[in-house]
Amino acid sequence: MSTLGAIAIAPDTHWVGALDPGLREFDIILKTANGTTYNSYCVRGSSGVAIIDTVKESHAGEFFTRLEQVARYDEITAIVLNHLEPDHTGALPELMRRAPQAKLYISNKAQLMLKALVKHDGLAYTIVNTGDSVDLGGRTLHFLNTPYLHWPDTQCTWLEQQGILFSGDVFGCHFCDSRLFNGQVGDFRFSFEYYYAHIMRPFREHVLDALELIEPLPLKLIAPAHGPILRDAPRSYVQRYRQLAAPLLHNEIGASNKSLLVFYISSYGNTSRMAEAVRDGAETIPGVRVSLYDLQGGGNLPFVDLIEEADGLAFGSPTINGDAVKPVWDLLSSLAVIKVRDKLGAAFGSYGWSGEAVNMIEDRLRGLKLRVPIQGVRARLIPTDEELGLCRDLGKQLALHLTGSIEHRVIAMSELLTQESTHA
Ligand SMILES: Cc1cc2nc3c(=O)[nH]c(=O)nc-3n(C[C@H](O)[C@H](O)[C@H](O)COP(=O)(O)O)c2cc1C
Ligand SMILES: [Fe+2]
Ligand SMILES: [Fe+2]
Repeated sequence: MSTLGAIAIAPDTHWVGALDPGLREFDIILKTANGTTYNSYCVRGSSGVAIIDTVKESHAGEFFTRLEQVARYDEITAIVLNHLEPDHTGALPELMRRAPQAKLYISNKAQLMLKALVKHDGLAYTIVNTGDSVDLGGRTLHFLNTPYLHWPDTQCTWLEQQGILFSGDVFGCHFCDSRLFNGQVGDFRFSFEYYYAHIMRPFREHVLDALELIEPLPLKLIAPAHGPILRDAPRSYVQRYRQLAAPLLHNEIGASNKSLLVFYISSYGNTSRMAEAVRDGAETIPGVRVSLYDLQGGGNLPFVDLIEEADGLAFGSPTINGDAVKPVWDLLSSLAVIKVRDKLGAAFGSYGWSGEAVNMIEDRLRGLKLRVPIQGVRARLIPTDEELGLCRDLGKQLALHLTGSIEHRVIAMSELLTQESTHA
């Protein structure tokens, strides 16, 4: 354990967290080149002491040692949980045993998680929302409901008199440096951006909602749950979140137009011909900007950025060995960092005998919560003119869905009969 003691971040307010310099991977998905910190804070008022978040269970010893340097357990009146992920609540059950009188403050969505973490009868807690506050005597904690940053339960806590925002995972990063303050630690810009890209980016709309609450605050310091405490230029980190959550590029087509991206890959040119037909069909509908991309021509990252801004996505893949091809799966698996729910999706592709790719892609799109209202098109080997016509129609239907011009119509029996007779 580090010999570092509790660190004052403002009068009567201390960092009592833990350092985890040896960690190299967090939550499976994040690399942590020099470890991380689990930041916990202790705020003292004239009539109460609050603990804001705890630490990972493996680091509870450090946390309690630091906490004991600034408060007695019987003085603690409030435990605020900004986020119930185990990296912040691992030491909670033990803290509750040591300070049984302390009241727990959580957001509405944290209740089920709390019950799953602390399994004992008579568990008492107070649900707080934006606008609620706790008075510690000359120190007031105000709660800001900021769901999904990073789990549904997350909230931030604002210490009014000292201008400190205890922000949970928001504005945090995995960067371990015992000098703690942003003006003193090593260069952590990469970690800050990386953390945003992997943890916050999927919840861009929630980030924007949270910024509406945070930006008006007269911030003096941001105390996040991981990484450096942002004492120098705290507002610049808020501005950076605003930039990161904003669209990357100015989109020349204007907000009223819809964007459809057609991705494909093709070995003999069959699926590529189908892709062009999908594009041609979609382009006949005004108000839709259609873009065609060959996955052989690019890495995933720029496409992920485009997909984040797009309204509709169509994927073309041949069937190879009973599957869609790897570049398509790679792109689809990179979409975990952005919100794709409710976008429009479709699939198409050429095949030789079994043709599984189209259905597999459609299933995956549905699994990612895209809407897939139109049956995809498959063509055996070289697409015929008729099959290319079906592709054009697929593009057109997608575009009509995007512009909202498709109406759910009731099909009359007589119409079906006419169709059958034409096919016969
Ligand atoms: C190595 C290889 C494996 C294939 N496996 C399948 C398969 O499992 N099922 C199928 O329907 N077609 C299979 N095919 C046929 C292709 O899907 C077919 O040639 C298709 O027209 C290729 O389209 P493309 O020109 O767009 O790449 C395979 C082709 C190759 C070269
Ligand atoms: Fe988290
Ligand atoms: Fe965390």
